[in-house]
Amino acid sequence: IERTLVIVKPDGYRRGLTGEVLRRIEAKGYTLASLQVMTPDRERLAQHYAEHEGKPFYEPLVDFMSSGPATFVVVEGQRCIEGFRILAGATDPTAALPGTIRGDLGRDWGKKVQENIVHGSDSPESAEREIGIWFA
Ligand code: GTP
Ligand code: MG
Repeated sequence: IERTLVIVKPDGYRRGLTGEVLRRIEAKGYTLASLQVMTPDRERLAQHYAEHEGKPFYEPLVDFMSSGPATFVVVEGQRCIEGFRILAGATDPTAALPGTIRGDLGRDWGKKVQENIVHGSDSPESAEREIGIWFA
């Protein structure tokens, strides 16, 4: 069975949207296999976001992601990687379509990083790599 790593990011946690995100994942028919709430440390965030190192939004992204609790979820189900990214919507919450998590619940808050509520792995390789970082 395919697995993906979903993170309800610190903005989602602060706004009380964790339950709403988990509700949508379950309503879609995916399974919550593991779940933990923690404030991500910068060392593991650097591993997680290695592909973005050097980009203008990298430092603001790590600052934002380490700013408070987030919920890490291993989600299971056939084609859940693709399926969750469709549920999440486009990276920019202003442009994300209504019906998606980011489109329904997100907006631009004028920050240096897009606070877009959720993360979802983008390939089977990323999913296994990311689950290994956070659920070691
Ligand atoms: P994730 O599921 O969080 O990985 O989102 P994604 O795959 O849609 O985006 P990507 O992996 O390209 O970028 C990771 C995160 O960096 C995004 O979710 C945003 O929070 C932030 N980000 C990405 N691109 C930009 C950008 O062009 N500008 C700004 N300000 N932030 C960005
Ligand atoms: Mg990504």
